[in-house]
Amino acid sequence: MTDAPTPHAAILSLGAYRPGRQVPNEEICHQIDSTDEWIRTRTGIAERGWALPEETLEVMAVGAATDALQAAGVEASSLGMILVATCTNGQPIQPLAIRVAAALGTELPALEINATCAGFCYGLGVARDLVRGGTADRVLLVGAERLTDVLDTTDRGTAFIFADGAGAVVIGRSETDGIGPVVWGSDGERGKVLKLVPDYTELRNDPTLPKPSISMEGRRVFKWAAEEMPKVAEAACKAAGVTLADIDVLVPHQANQRITEVIVRGLELPERVVVADDIATSGNTSSASIPLALHRMRAEGRVKSGDLALLIGFGGGLAYAAQVVTLP
Ligand code: COA
Repeated sequence: MTDAPTPHAAILSLGAYRPGRQVPNEEICHQIDSTDEWIRTRTGIAERGWALPEETLEVMAVGAATDALQAAGVEASSLGMILVATCTNGQPIQPLAIRVAAALGTELPALEINATCAGFCYGLGVARDLVRGGTADRVLLVGAERLTDVLDTTDRGTAFIFADGAGAVVIGRSETDGIGPVVWGSDGERGKVLKLVPDYTELRNDPTLPKPSISMEGRRVFKWAAEEMPKVAEAACKAAGVTLADIDVLVPHQANQRITEVIVRGLELPERVVVADDIATSGNTSSASIPLALHRMRAEGRVKSGDLALLIGFGGGLAYAAQVVTLP
């Protein structure tokens, strides 16, 4: 066997699917005895995208995938792997990734990843290694969520945060290295602060239980993210061989604008760094939030090709992953 040089990997394109219904805070407030001002102040969210009945998880995932493939100018048949990050696939025995592969007219290898809100960055870490290892020349990575399927719209702690949507990227071989090493990990000891209650097994054993919905100890999630994510971000920069002064764009998971602000302060980022704020109109879309934010910033001309972006995914599990990428 001959030793071929390790190929470089980069993000080649961005794609998005945003649901058809924008839901302002006012529409949610009356169900949870809240106000537009309280929600904006605590989370930075003014409105969020909630899927219409016909906008299934698969419809959104395929929409974002098709958009990313078109933007890259490549056919689905040229891919070596399809990865789909999601934590809201209600049919795990028929993985969403395989349904996406079929909808794109292929029988490609397809793998579902559930690392909750860190799923996109986990997927990017895996995709990078698939390309660099020579297993796939091109990989499609989708982050897709329909969190309204597991949202209790009368729950004061979560109803105003979570939303729906899908984002996608095509990753492929490139002349230069466009995806830095991933820094990732988990903290299962603290995992119970964000989970589905009851879980599907409990519901099956006791059908009198209510429908599963997200249960969150908001303060504890906030504290963990605020304390740990600046360290993870610094480690990702170090792994990529860059400093925070080199970063042009910061895209933390769009969980909550206040968490983003704490991360920005913790890292002492220079003013010139463009910081994602897609949470304001998209809400928290878990694994879809980073590609959706990137797509919007690019469409609005706030970032450009070649910019160095620091991505930080974090959420239920608890799970986190971060890397530095060059924007397509
Ligand atoms: N509307 C209005 N008031 C509310 C409310 C709501 N939806 N929910 C709680 N309150 C009130 C409480 O009754 C309490 O009032 P009091 O001080 O008079 O007793 C006060 O607000 C504080 O309640 P608390 O539950 O401690 O809220 P908080 O300040 O922790 O804010 C979150 C709640 C969810 C906004 C906050 O914890 C948070 O942002 N956490 C991170 C969540 C996150 O990012 N999750 C995604 C991870 S992927």
